[in-house]
Amino acid sequence: MDTILVLDFGGQYDMLIARRVREKHVYAEVVNYDKITAAEIKARGYKGIIFTGGPNSVYEAGSPTFSADVLSLGIPVLGICYGMQLMSYLAGGTVENAAEGEYGKVEITAGASPLFNGVPAKSIAWMSHRDFVSRVPEGFKVIATTDKCPTAAVASEEKKLYGVQFHPEVTHTAFGNKMLENFIFEICACKADWNMESFIDESVAKYRAKCAGKKVLLALSGGVDSSVAAALMHRAVGDDLTCVFVDHGLLRKGEGDLVENTFKHKFGMNLIRVDAEERFLKKLAGVTEPEKKRKIIGEEFIRVFEEQGRILGKVNYLCQGTIYPDVIESGKGDASTIKSHHNVGGLPSVIDFEEIVEPLRDLFKDEVREVGLKLGLPPDLVWRQPFPGPGLAVRIIGEITKEKADLLREADAIFREEIAAAMKTPPNQYFAVLTDTRSVGVMGDARSYGYVLALRAVTTDDFMTADWTRIPFEVIERASNRITSEVRGINRVVYDVTSKPPATVEWE
Ligand code: XMP
Repeated sequence: MDTILVLDFGGQYDMLIARRVREKHVYAEVVNYDKITAAEIKARGYKGIIFTGGPNSVYEAGSPTFSADVLSLGIPVLGICYGMQLMSYLAGGTVENAAEGEYGKVEITAGASPLFNGVPAKSIAWMSHRDFVSRVPEGFKVIATTDKCPTAAVASEEKKLYGVQFHPEVTHTAFGNKMLENFIFEICACKADWNMESFIDESVAKYRAKCAGKKVLLALSGGVDSSVAAALMHRAVGDDLTCVFVDHGLLRKGEGDLVENTFKHKFGMNLIRVDAEERFLKKLAGVTEPEKKRKIIGEEFIRVFEEQGRILGKVNYLCQGTIYPDVIESGKGDASTIKSHHNVGGLPSVIDFEEIVEPLRDLFKDEVREVGLKLGLPPDLVWRQPFPGPGLAVRIIGEITKEKADLLREADAIFREEIAAAMKTPPNQYFAVLTDTRSVGVMGDARSYGYVLALRAVTTDDFMTADWTRIPFEVIERASNRITSEVRGINRVVYDVTSKPPATVEWE
């Protein structure tokens, strides 16, 4: 399979670059600059290399760098922003701090170059730099300029080395996608053969050869990643896979049954559903402090798995739903990292196993979803919004009781139904929170004293920051009417209009 190496120098768009390449059905791998050598790059047979941007200056002591040998491997290179400056510097050019930086949309004038085939002479590109290449290396020429930057792009066409000062990977660069296509297909001559069918076929063959006839265990949370990992592994090894699904009693309405029906009945998997509601609620009784709740749930998960581990005995493989962003975030391409999700993070220490397998570790979230759909998982499960491991525990403010969990489950289900009925593109995450405040109301002719329920919906790309979603008032109105009339015990509904920061997505 033709692969592009995205050599990571610490830029904020590194993942986006890999996404852009993969969108064109060419496999791309992000590797941190200090985790690979030029010799390894050659040995792995990459078809092209993209140097990413980064916050440093090439002439600063300790700034990320690379052996200049990488420019003589005969593999095409595209340097972006810092990547262009580093490439020029390694090739003998000079980089300087400009009197004035360029930030945001800038008009570039592009000359003739294979990189710019199909790109008009003048177009808009996204810039974010102060340093620039003040003297191009020998054998290189300038192929684009802007008013302020005489070297907006450079190339040694003979050696297939290209550098762009702007960011072709962001959508603000009008012809950025075209330039990346030119690099990948014209300059690197990649074949577009990366797709989810071939991924499934290759993975099934690989894990069948590796794991069939052995004992494989997977902790199923019901979230997208572990569900898709389970479906894929099941296709590879069938009954050799056992999934353990812990129902801690703090799941959303119908969630436990959806997981059981899908995996046990539809797929015919060995699924152990551990009904642990009572023991979790017992441990949580009287606890009001948010971090303590999380800790108790995390620890209780481990205890449940310890017990399951004793029943199962030694397993050969522990399968985890780690996905590519987890790998990159936690180890910048380090192969040995394990997802530190609270309910699986502790598993390796309590399960007696030989090796961890992570069949999705090369995939982005949208690729994971596509694999899930292709494997026959229900769209409801594949498109599921994120749900925190501690579940409704972080959405019940104050002490958690079964009564409160049941109230919240009903109210949350109504809110979700109303959103689903009214909004074609739902918010990225939306849910109800049961506050520990009660307020006075009037129902019929009688005074009521019930809980205040908060509705929350957020719009976000990455959940690191989020805006509250302007959902139509009619949706809030219908949800509020239904909740106060159908859920006894809740007599007031409010909508959370706080962004993150200063708030978080969850209330606890
Ligand atoms: P916050 O509340 O930190 O949430 O703004 C950001 C995203 O993370 C989810 N979240 C969790 N997920 N275990 C998880 O698996 C947790 O303890 C946890 N806490 C928050 C939250 O739902 C949102 O998507």
